[in-house]
Amino acid sequence: MFFPSLSPFLLLSLCVLCRADRTPGFRVPIRRVPRLRPLAFSSNVLTTDVSITNRNEFAYLVSVSVGDQQFSVILDTGSSDFWIVSSDCTTPDCTGVQKYYKEQSSSLSLSGTPFTLSYLMGSVTGNVGFETIEIGRFQISSQVFALANRTLGLGLSTTGNSGILGLSFPSIAAISLANGDTLLENILSNFDEPDRFFAFKLGSGSGPDDLTSSFTLGELDSNITSDLNSFSFTPVSKAGADSFNYWKLPLQSLTIDSTTFVLSPSLIPDAKAPIAVLDTGTTLILGPTLDVDAFWRAVNQEGATRKNARTGLWEVKCDRGVSVSFLLGEKGNERPYPVNPSDVNWEEGGSEDGWCMGGIQPNDGVNSGDWLLGDVFLRNVYVTHHHANSTHQPLIGLLNMTDPETAMIRFRNDRGPDQSVPSTHWIRQNVPSTTSPRTAIVYMISSVSGFVVGAMVTLFVRIRRQRALF
Ligand SMILES: *[C@@H]1O[C@H](CO)[C@@H](O)[C@H](O)[C@H]1NC(C)=O
Ligand SMILES: *[C@@H]1O[C@H](CO)[C@@H](O)[C@H](O)[C@H]1NC(C)=O
Ligand SMILES: *[C@@H]1O[C@H](CO)[C@@H](O)[C@H](O)[C@H]1NC(C)=O
Ligand SMILES: *[C@@H]1O[C@H](CO)[C@@H](O)[C@H](O)[C@H]1NC(C)=O
Repeated sequence: MFFPSLSPFLLLSLCVLCRADRTPGFRVPIRRVPRLRPLAFSSNVLTTDVSITNRNEFAYLVSVSVGDQQFSVILDTGSSDFWIVSSDCTTPDCTGVQKYYKEQSSSLSLSGTPFTLSYLMGSVTGNVGFETIEIGRFQISSQVFALANRTLGLGLSTTGNSGILGLSFPSIAAISLANGDTLLENILSNFDEPDRFFAFKLGSGSGPDDLTSSFTLGELDSNITSDLNSFSFTPVSKAGADSFNYWKLPLQSLTIDSTTFVLSPSLIPDAKAPIAVLDTGTTLILGPTLDVDAFWRAVNQEGATRKNARTGLWEVKCDRGVSVSFLLGEKGNERPYPVNPSDVNWEEGGSEDGWCMGGIQPNDGVNSGDWLLGDVFLRNVYVTHHHANSTHQPLIGLLNMTDPETAMIRFRNDRGPDQSVPSTHWIRQNVPSTTSPRTAIVYMISSVSGFVVGAMVTLFVRIRRQRALF
């Protein structure tokens, strides 16, 4: 009785008559909202005089109906489970978000199997169940999912999302596959073979009318492109694992201002090139310390970059425009994907005294791959994620969306002239202020079931430095 069955919602009656036709794909409206963080975090991290500013992160949400109750959930290509909070959840973390009421549903069945995801900075606990789930125009009955009765440290109450919809491969799901297929598997298996994919464009707009973000299943967003042939395809890498786990592909090199920047070899034994993981649940681009340090030193013209000794994070003068491309794909078939200078030099991350946060940061704790390409990279591409079918292994399709020249002109208009490019008028200033508030950034990578899934948490903690008296 727990076998999920899937029917095209709304089109059900139509398709009884047209069985031979392809199941049409669909678009699920996606909203970009500020991802706020609960104050409770600070006590775990620092005991100094702290107040948190929340201007830095965004989450991409979609609407899902579970047993006829409506929820907003985060889309996360770095994990594979679907869970929502139940009305049993009373922890401060889940206060005020839309919750699932068991007593209001006749279609729920609970399995009695406990569900746990452990995060470095938080956790979810609950129970595995089966419900009727609707997303876009699909309805899936007896879909396995988890009802969370306790969440800690995930910031649900401030973001307003009721759970997470994981879009990665089943092998990393915390809910045992013996209970049934993941929501994504169930939806995609309903499409004809060439249409078993979903596509993302992460935008930078916000609110319900944000048309810069797009999430579609089984079809492309014709407002971006209708032509799958315009994408470059790369087989998903299995490096370091027995089965497909994350949306991974080889990263051959970077270019900085068109000069090749060679990367250190992958730490994954069987990988021929460094492995990059595409992950909507991560904000920044994270790479090995060795490479990221060398990268920022390479763009350090006239003191335009610095590594914050206390946080270990790279900062860059807000007016320094860095032209970076990521060369992704198998050797010989790699393509350059330019990253907008305003994503590399990240003003959204907060600026102090003219210093902005680097969009590329060191992190040696990533174990799903060598590099984690989060939202600051993903905003520059249109990505398709193809499941395996009878002729192909899973594929990633990438379409470059950033014209580096236009992006640099916009950057210049926004940030003003580049003071760090050597010029006769420019005199090196290196006067760190000891009295102004400084921004300290604390990162944590969440890990689910021992995997780093990359739902990165960024806290901005303002610390007032005392003037030294002597
Ligand atoms: C939450 O679910 C777990 C796992 O089934 C259970 O042990 C716990 O008692 C439940 N807590 C609440 C508050 O319902
Ligand atoms: C399998 O998927 C690939 C990639 O999307 C597609 O090109 C191919 O046509 C599909 N195979 C079949 C038999 O439809
Ligand atoms: C394309 O964009 C227009 C507005 O610019 C919108 O009305 C329409 O729904 C969009 N179409 C799709 C398929 O998303
Ligand atoms: C990326 O696409 C833009 C247009 O969308 C184009 O101008 C640019 O040259 C492309 N760059 C690369 C490296 O493909």
